Amino acid sequence: MSLDEALDRIRPALDRALERSLPNDGTPAPLGEAMRYCLLAGGKRIRPAIVGFAFEAAGGSGDAWLVPAVAVEMVHTYSLVHDDLPAMDDDDLRRGRPTCHRVYGEAVAILVGDALLTRAFEILGAEVDDPALGGRLVAELAGAAGAAGMVGGQVLDLAAEGAPRDRSEAERIARLKTAALIRASARMGALAAGATVDALSALTAYGESVGLAFQLADDMLDLSSTAAELGKTPGKDVESAKLTVSSVVGPDGARSLATELIERAKVAIRDLPGGGPLAEIADFVLARRR
Ligand code: IPE
Ligand code: IPE
Ligand code: MG
Ligand code: MG
Ligand code: MG
Repeated sequence: MSLDEALDRIRPALDRALERSLPNDGTPAPLGEAMRYCLLAGGKRIRPAIVGFAFEAAGGSGDAWLVPAVAVEMVHTYSLVHDDLPAMDDDDLRRGRPTCHRVYGEAVAILVGDALLTRAFEILGAEVDDPALGGRLVAELAGAAGAAGMVGGQVLDLAAEGAPRDRSEAERIARLKTAALIRASARMGALAAGATVDALSALTAYGESVGLAFQLADDMLDLSSTAAELGKTPGKDVESAKLTVSSVVGPDGARSLATELIERAKVAIRDLPGGGPLAEIADFVLARRR
C-alpha cells in the first residue's frame, strides 16, 4: 500500500476527531477562532499518522489511537504557534497562511498555544477509557513536550544562534526539539494498542530515527525549497545563523545521515507484520518537498 492510500484510509477519522476536539462555543472570542485557524490549517499530520500506524503495527484495532493522535497534533501545533512568535523564529507564514500572531496578535498567539497544550492533556485525561493507559499517555506526551524534550530543545536552538558549529550540539538540539515528539507519537500508538515489550521497543527505535531524520530534512528544505512548496518562508535558518546539522556537515552530509537514519528506522520495524505504512512514512520523510 502506498503512503497516500494508507493516509486516505485514516484521514477522514482523524480530520473529524481534530474538528470535534475543539470546543465550539463558550470559548471567549477570538480564542476559539484562532485555535481552529491554527489546528485545522493544512498541516501534513505526520505525527498523528505515526500514532495511528504504530497502533496498527503493534496489533491494535478500532479507534483507540484517535485521542492520543489528536493530543499529539495539538501539542505540535502549539509548538509551531510559539516557534513563529517574534521572540522566537519571528515567522510570517505557516501552513501556507499568515502565522497566528500576524492574524490575531502576539498575546492571543501565546494564549492559543497555552490553550492547545492544556486541551491536549484534558482530552487524554477525559477521553481515554482506561485510566491507567490515560496516565501513561499523559506522562509520555508531557515528557516529550517539556523541559527534557521539545521545550528544552527550543531553548537550546535559540541559545545556539550564531554559536560555533558543533555537530553533536546540533544533533542534540534536533533530537530534543523535534525527535522527542515523533518518538512519543510512535510510543503512544504502541501503548494505546497494548504493545508487547518487543513491539514497544521496536517502535521507540523507529520513532527516534525518523524523528531525527525529520528535522534534518526540515533543515535541508529550509535551504532548498520555496515558500509555495513549504508553506513557510525558506532561508530563515541561515538568516538567523541556526545551529543545524546541515550547517555543520553540509547538505550532502546531512542527506547521507538522514538516509542512514531512515534505513535504521525501517530495520527496527521489519518484524512487525503491520509495519508497511510506517516504512512508507519513513521514506516520505526523505523524499518530501514540504
Ligand atoms: C515543522 O513540522 C516543525 C518541525 C518540527 C520540523 P511539520 O513539517 O510536521 O509541520 P506541519 O505540521 O506539516 O505544518
Ligand atoms: C521547530 O524547528 C521545532 C519545533 C519544536 C516547533 P523549526 O524552527 O526549524 O521549525 P520550522 O522550520 O519553523 O517549522
Ligand atoms: Mg525554531
Ligand atoms: Mg521555526
Ligand atoms: Mg525549520
